[in-house]
Amino acid sequence: MMVELGNNERRMLRAMLGDPQAIWSLDQLLEACEWVDQAHVAGAGLALNEEGMVEIEEVTSRMITLGEEGRKALNDGLLESRLFAWILNQPDDQRMVSTMSQSFEKSESGPGVGLLKRLGIALERGSFVLPNDTSEIETILEDRKEFIQSIGENGSDEDKLDSDMVVAFRSRKRIIETNETTTRTWRLSADGRNVNPGSLTEKTQIVDLTPEMLQGDDWREAEFKRYDVDLPAPTPAGGRPHPMQSLIQRIRSIFLEMGFTEIEGDFVRTAGWNMDSLFIPQTHPARAMQDTFYLEDPEKLPIEDRWLDLWADVHEKGGGTGSTGWGGNFDREEAKKGLLRTHTTVNTVKHLADRPNEACRVFGIGRVFRQEAIDKSHLPEFHQIEGIIHEPDASLPMLVTTLKTFYAKMGYPDVRVRPAYFPYTEPSLEIEVKWRGIWLELGGAGIFRPEVTEPLGTEWPVCAWGMGLERLAMLVLGMDDIRELYQPDLLKLRSMPII
Ligand code: PHE
Repeated sequence: MMVELGNNERRMLRAMLGDPQAIWSLDQLLEACEWVDQAHVAGAGLALNEEGMVEIEEVTSRMITLGEEGRKALNDGLLESRLFAWILNQPDDQRMVSTMSQSFEKSESGPGVGLLKRLGIALERGSFVLPNDTSEIETILEDRKEFIQSIGENGSDEDKLDSDMVVAFRSRKRIIETNETTTRTWRLSADGRNVNPGSLTEKTQIVDLTPEMLQGDDWREAEFKRYDVDLPAPTPAGGRPHPMQSLIQRIRSIFLEMGFTEIEGDFVRTAGWNMDSLFIPQTHPARAMQDTFYLEDPEKLPIEDRWLDLWADVHEKGGGTGSTGWGGNFDREEAKKGLLRTHTTVNTVKHLADRPNEACRVFGIGRVFRQEAIDKSHLPEFHQIEGIIHEPDASLPMLVTTLKTFYAKMGYPDVRVRPAYFPYTEPSLEIEVKWRGIWLELGGAGIFRPEVTEPLGTEWPVCAWGMGLERLAMLVLGMDDIRELYQPDLLKLRSMPII
């Protein structure tokens, strides 16, 4: 059993065996053990208590001290005493509330009237009327004064005070304050008293094993302090990254370890690159003002004519793809409109346009903007996790496997895909992840259509996907309201899981 005892426990036990029958206070133990930190007494005492050698007694006592008003009362008298003295000093016909208000602060004359009434002083047509015999009032005021004095500057144990007075003054503001203190005492149990003090020598204990120590041989003879994982410990509340930043970082490392390269792009784009290059028809409802944030400045941005020519051709007639296109007239001015990107697919398509003959696997995590009313599942600004695989053998199974691998690495091994529709992919998929037994839609994917890739000048298939970051965050953090992700509530943020 002795081996379980650490140095602090040995020291405390040895000190207590110096007077085996004594009941020890904190101060006495600190002195006997030559400690300054009471945590040593508390910790060693608890450990000895668990070993059955020490008994701990806790006594909770309540200290009453004077509050701000109470201290004022100690020096100048209680408000009711000062008011009463004032009344006595006035001629009979001048004992009026209105004159009192001139001699006392409003904060005193207001509550003062009630206090006086409760003492038996009547108020008739604005004047105070004293009873014939005021001796009773004087006794009450005297008792109250004594009570305040008995608390005094230093406060008093609640047990030593008149309990009715304590109750009465507790209901008045800032006169008395109650502080609870718990005092512990320690005494040896029968088992404790039987320990041989000679067995309680302190040994060198190793708490942390450092590389330096391992270079010598001393550690071989030393005793190692046991690590107790059950001990209560404070939760450190230092700085930490916002959970969304941690999540982005984790997603980033997953794609990087899967061999992808990260790309970025601007928030401000043209309708041409955000939509026309992706074969989204110019009449598409999502292009309307109420879904997309178009800009006043810059209202338009330049786009090279060669792109406008190519898009006009595929949009109107399908270009060389064999498709019939959307028909109608392609509006080049519409394509130049400035907007806040509505999806990060604009980054991947531009990446391809800039290097149509390079194979690539790229991803990006970025903010997108849509005119959405804020509710528990919508925000006007959110993030997408976007990516493409552009290479000769890119294929649908490769796309599905990539997404499944990503979600498995995120901790969601159950993934399924379902048919979907996007104007720029064929086939198109929806990606769903199983969470607590239900399937949740987390994103879209597909193979870019020839109407997208032909104008870009690429000949290889392109696997593409775009997934919602906030949706995923809600799963990871176990939330059902998307707004919670961005509320600056430090307590909540602190208690969110480490990602
Ligand atoms: N851009 C689509 C969205 O915002 C997602 C997507 C990306 C779909 C790439 C297919 C291919 O929902």
